[in-house]
Parts: sequence; structure tokens; C-alpha cells
Amino acid sequence: MKQLWRLLPVKLVVLSCFFITSANSQRPVSVRLVGGSKPNLGVVEVTMSTGAVGRICNLGFDNNGASVVCAMLGYRGVTGLKVDLPPYTVGNTNTVMAISGCPDFLEASTSTWNLETACRYVVSSFPPDCAGNGRDAAVICTGTQTTSTPGPTLPPDFATIAPIDCNNTITSLRLDPGPEEGLVLIQNGSLGGDNFGTICAAGFSAIEAATICRMLCRNETANAIGMSGKYLTTAASYPVMLSGLKCPAGATSTNDCKHNGWGAAPSYCTPNTAVSVRCSQISLTPPPIPAPFVVCHLYVANVFFTYTDVASASLLSLYGTYNETTCNFTKNENSTTVWATVPYIGCNSVQTTNATHVIYTSMLYRNVTAVSGVYVDVPYIIPVECAIPKLKEVTAALLPDARTAPPITGGDSYTSEVKLYRSYNARGFSSEIAPGDRLVVGSRIYARVRETSPLNVRLTVRNCWASDKSDGTGASYYVVRNKCATDANSVFRVDEKNIGINFAVMSFTQTVSTQAYIFCDVTICTPTDPDERCLQTCGTAVRRRRKRQLSTENEKESSQQPSRGPYILTAMTAMDVEASRAASIADATLLWLMTTALVAAVAWNTFSSVFIH
Ligand SMILES: *[C@@H]1O[C@H](CO)[C@@H](O)[C@H](O)[C@H]1NC(C)=O
Ligand SMILES: *[C@@H]1O[C@H](CO)[C@@H](O)[C@H](O)[C@H]1NC(C)=O
Ligand SMILES: *[C@@H]1O[C@H](CO)[C@@H](O)[C@H](O)[C@H]1NC(C)=O
Ligand SMILES: *[C@@H]1O[C@H](CO)[C@@H](O)[C@H](O)[C@H]1NC(C)=O
Ligand SMILES: *[C@@H]1O[C@H](CO)[C@@H](O)[C@H](O)[C@H]1NC(C)=O
Ligand SMILES: *[C@@H]1O[C@H](CO)[C@@H](O)[C@H](O)[C@H]1NC(C)=O
Ligand SMILES: *[C@@H]1O[C@H](CO)[C@@H](O)[C@H](O)[C@H]1NC(C)=O
Ligand SMILES: *[C@@H]1O[C@H](CO)[C@@H](O)[C@H](O)[C@H]1NC(C)=O
Repeated sequence: MKQLWRLLPVKLVVLSCFFITSANSQRPVSVRLVGGSKPNLGVVEVTMSTGAVGRICNLGFDNNGASVVCAMLGYRGVTGLKVDLPPYTVGNTNTVMAISGCPDFLEASTSTWNLETACRYVVSSFPPDCAGNGRDAAVICTGTQTTSTPGPTLPPDFATIAPIDCNNTITSLRLDPGPEEGLVLIQNGSLGGDNFGTICAAGFSAIEAATICRMLCRNETANAIGMSGKYLTTAASYPVMLSGLKCPAGATSTNDCKHNGWGAAPSYCTPNTAVSVRCSQISLTPPPIPAPFVVCHLYVANVFFTYTDVASASLLSLYGTYNETTCNFTKNENSTTVWATVPYIGCNSVQTTNATHVIYTSMLYRNVTAVSGVYVDVPYIIPVECAIPKLKEVTAALLPDARTAPPITGGDSYTSEVKLYRSYNARGFSSEIAPGDRLVVGSRIYARVRETSPLNVRLTVRNCWASDKSDGTGASYYVVRNKCATDANSVFRVDEKNIGINFAVMSFTQTVSTQAYIFCDVTICTPTDPDERCLQTCGTAVRRRRKRQLSTENEKESSQQPSRGPYILTAMTAMDVEASRAASIADATLLWLMTTALVAAVAWNTFSSVFIH
């Protein structure tokens, strides 16, 4: 033993090596007090790992040594004091170990609460002084006794199990199945080895649960709870190992706790009352809120759910009643995904708008199914939004061109086009100018800017300009700027989706055979959007107000827009078209507003249901 060379002269070092094997099998494993007048006072009797029982020869056994003995007996706080007692010559009187001191004892460290680790000792070759019982170590224990009454007949190692080392595999305690939760299985602190058993749940509180979790090196012990009635099948194959476990708050080991002794269990403690522990917090989060992936394309919302969110296509429906003749709602599924397609049109989708987007909101309903007769999920109403940006740029010209604006994230696009015509009348535009057609500079032609989607939206042209480059970056000439036609040109609304522009063909160089292109910035809005960008009127609100005082304000108005020519107030200006339309669509507008209000109310209720869930 390493202790040997400290205790004995250096010349015995070689001898110490000789002892290693046998010394290892001779360790002190348990103690008790004998021959005293009280349970906490007596001569120390020690049991060796070989089974030998006897006395400790005092070759420097001090209060540290006494404290080790008392700690092994279950005393805590201020513990052992070395005492001198008259020799006690009853029982196992032979010397089985000699202790020269216990310098490694630390009251705060349970791993030093045993003679083997705290003390320097030999188990043979005792000095002559150890003969007889005159030097037998004796102690009195003070402090708090934390295990059941120790006495002369205490079972060995009553209080201790192997100290926990969180850096190594913990072998004396485990949760089955673990790691967060399981049946507590603890090794018989006396027998060691494969002798595991359960802990009785009677009296087992959060403090004991936290102790177990600390011993398992879990640091989230604030959530530790002990439960009974779980993992009973596992429990049935183990004996009850501990009962009456009572720990002080903050205990880091069962060695700090009272209990009834290894294997000792009252009759009410059976495997059926075995305790299980959960060390980490139980998740209180509700089932996930369905979070679909939405792709809006060509006026249809494609909504994809994972199976976690929607377990089957049969659970998915369009919320509320709808007309199956007008609404082509479809749904489908494969092994990983459930999806639905909801057209914006005909399926009760609500059309709204904000400053930048036109938004279509559809409501999907996720139903629930009973599991074992109960519902563990809540039904959800899932609003699905497709947003279409109002602003975009379209290009066309002598080469008529239809473009699709790139969709925003989760958004759709709409299509608009610019085409050129030689004439326009109440029946519409005619004599389309084909790509490559030659145009006489200075002649007047028409551009038609058109929203081609089936959506119920209003198109507004913000800017249109001619350029000599196909990407619009070359020389430019505006025919419409900030919704106002320039020079002798004019801009007019044909209907909600068609804007006409009349302008003179221009050339950017003297060589008139070069190509020219027309570019337009357009805006789409809902028909009732009051946003001034949605009105195809130059100067918007100001002009609208002045319209009522047209005769007196006309001159002033013109002077405020010097870039505008006299054509601006022809019968086909936007303002006039809108004014003439106003009376005829008044009833329809009222109806539309009422309908919108009704739909909005339904939508509001729907949303509040979502929030309630
Ligand atoms: C465990 O390891 C940490 C660092 O890895 C060390 O600080 C600590 O002292 C070790 N504990 C024991 C009991 O060895
Ligand atoms: C446990 O404690 C360590 C060190 O303090 C910390 O890094 C770790 O996050 C803690 N774990 C939990 C689950 O709280
Ligand atoms: C635990 O060890 C003690 C002491 O050796 C023994 O009396 C008891 O029967 C053991 N109990 C179990 C359940 O292993
Ligand atoms: C459904 O729509 C069709 C076509 O608009 C219409 O003829 C029919 O009356 C509607 N059915 C109901 C129940 O509203
Ligand atoms: C309905 O939509 C599906 C795709 O979602 C399409 O295949 C089908 O042709 C549509 N039916 C009608 C009548 O539009
Ligand atoms: C299921 O459908 C989704 C959406 O169409 C697709 O992304 C996925 O690859 C499909 N999975 C299988 C296994 O077919
Ligand atoms: C308008 O709505 C769309 C879609 O919800 C959103 O992305 C956009 O930021 C909104 N614009 C404003 C100005 O609130
Ligand atoms: C939900 O599912 C149940 C059972 O299949 C069905 O009776 C009920 O009508 C469904 N609810 C809705 C709103 O679809």
C-alpha cells in the first residue's frame, strides 16, 4: 500500500510492493462502536473486506480519524472526537489494522468519509505496541445522526454508497430507461456488485428527487420530480433496496440522507411502490400550430403541410361552406406531405389590400381525430395569405411583350402587358402594330396597358416612357410621368384593367429607322382602394376636389401642371372617364362595399377563433 512507506522506514518500500495484492483485498469496509455506555460512544470495531473483524491500533488516530468513523456511521455536522476508554476485551479483540492518521478527511467531501481513502494505515506487520487492546481506537460521535440508530450491531457500511464521480460512468445509480426519466435503481451500498434495487416512493419528495438527479450529475434539478406507478414491469424484477429515504435540502448524495437500511423495507414498500424520477422539466408545450408552406402561383394558393402538422388529407378542408360549382378546392397526400390547392377566386377568399400589396386570404380547417376515445389536439383554422405586389414594371413596345413579375416570398404575381395600336374607339383598340412595323415619326398611336389576370383588381399606370434600348436604360422620353401624360399625350382609363395612352411616335436620333421601346410602371389595387396611387388621375386628390369647381379652377390647374398639354382634358382623360362611370357604377359600388363588410366580419370572427385556440 502507498500508506506503508509513509508510516514505516524507507527500507520497507520493497516490502510494500510485496503487499499490494493482499492489501487490496484487505480494505476496511464498515465500522461500529462496541463497549460504550451509549450508542454514539465506544471502541471502534472494523470489518475488513476479507471478512475479518477486529480493532484499530492507534498509531496516530486523531479526531480526523474519529470523524471518519462517525461519518461512516451516519453522523453529520460536527462529528467524531477521539476518546480514551478502558480496554474492551469482549468479542473480536484482535487488531486488523493500524492507523497513523487520517489527513485526507474533508468534512465537505463524501468521498473521504471512509477509512480507506482518508487514512494512512497498514493491515499487517503491526508494531509491537499494537499487541493487546491498550491502543484500540475509541470515539464519541456528535453532530446530527442522519441514518437510523447506529449501535454496536449496525450492519456494515450502513450509510455509504460509492461516491459519485460525474467525470466517470456512474455505476451505483441509474434511471431505467433514462436519461431524463426512469425507475430509480440503486446499488446495495453494502454489497456493491450487481445488487440493484428500487427506492420506495413513500415519503419521497422533490428534495429526494433532486438528490437523485444531482447524483446523476444533472444540473437542472429544479424540475426534479418523483413519481410512482410508472415502469412497474421493470420494478417487478428488482427488490426494494431503500425505504424511508429522507434527505436534507440540497443533499448531493444518499449518504447525506436518512433511510431504513439497505434492503430494509416496511411491508407497504413493494416493487409496485417503487419510485421513478424525472430530472428535467416536463414539456408543457401544446401540439404544434400547423405551419404550412405556401406557394402562390397563377391565382391558386398551394398549401403544403408535413404529417406532423396534418396527419392525413382527410383532416383538411376549406373552412366554412362554399359553392363547389365555383370553387375548385382540391387536396391530396403522399407518404410525407399533405397539400391543398385553393383558388383565390370562387372559394370565399377574402381580398384585402394594404399600401404595397393586394392580399388574398383563404381559411383552411384542420380537423382532429380521437385517439383512444379522447382528443389530444385542437382543431385549427389556418389563414393562408397570398400577397401580390401592387407595383411592378412591364415592358412592351413595337415588340409586344407580356411579362410576369417575380413573385415575392410566398406571394403570387400578376400579368400585365403593353401593346400598341393604330386606333381606339368605344369598341376598343384595333389595328395592332406588330413587331417590326415601321411607324412614321410624329404620327399618333395608342398604347394599351392591360392587367391580364382574372383577379378583381384595378390597374393604374404610374410611368410610361419610350427608350431606344430594349432594357430601358438608353435615351428616354416619358409619355406618362407620375400618372400624368406629358406634352400633347394623354392617358385614360378604359376600364379597371385597361389603361390607354395616346402619344406621338418619337425618334431619338435623326436616323428614324432605329427601334423604340415603351416601358410602363404599373400598380394594381383592389377596385375600392382609396390609396391615391390606385387612382389613374394626374394630381389625384387635388384634381378630384377641383373637378367640382372646374370652370373657375381650370386655368390655375393647367398652370400648376405646365408639362401637360391641352389634351389632358379631352373626353377620354382618366378623370372624365371615372366621372362618367361614377353614376352608373354607384349601385354596384354600394353592393361591393356591403359585401366586403360582410366578408370582413366573417373573417374577423374566424381569426378570433384562431386566437382562442
Ligand atoms: C471532472 O472534470 C472537470 C473538468 O473536466 C474537473 O474540473 C473536475 O475536477 C473533475 N472532477 C473530478 C471529481 O475528477
Ligand atoms: C449544466 O451546467 C453546465 C455547466 O454549468 C452548463 O454548461 C450546462 O448548460 C448546464 N445544463 C443544463 C441542462 O442546464
Ligand atoms: C443489501 O445488503 C445488505 C447487507 O449486506 C443485506 O443485508 C441486504 O439483504 C441487501 N439487500 C438487497 C436488497 O440486496
Ligand atoms: C353555386 O354557383 C353556381 C354558379 O355560380 C350557381 O349557379 C349556384 O346557384 C350556386 N349554388 C349555391 C348553392 O349557391
Ligand atoms: C381543379 O384543380 C385541379 C388541380 O388542383 C386541376 O387538375 C383540375 O383540372 C381543376 N378542375 C377544374 C374543373 O378546374
Ligand atoms: C410528397 O409530396 C411533396 C409535395 O409535392 C414532395 O415534395 C415530396 O417529395 C413527396 N414525397 C414523396 C415521398 O413522394
Ligand atoms: C402588405 O401585406 C403584405 C403581405 O402580408 C406584407 O408583406 C407587406 O409588408 C404589407 N405592406 C405594408 C406596408 O404593411
Ligand atoms: C371533423 O371530423 C369529424 C369526424 O370525422 C366529422 O364528423 C366532422 O364533421 C369534422 N368537422 C369538420 C368541421 O369537418
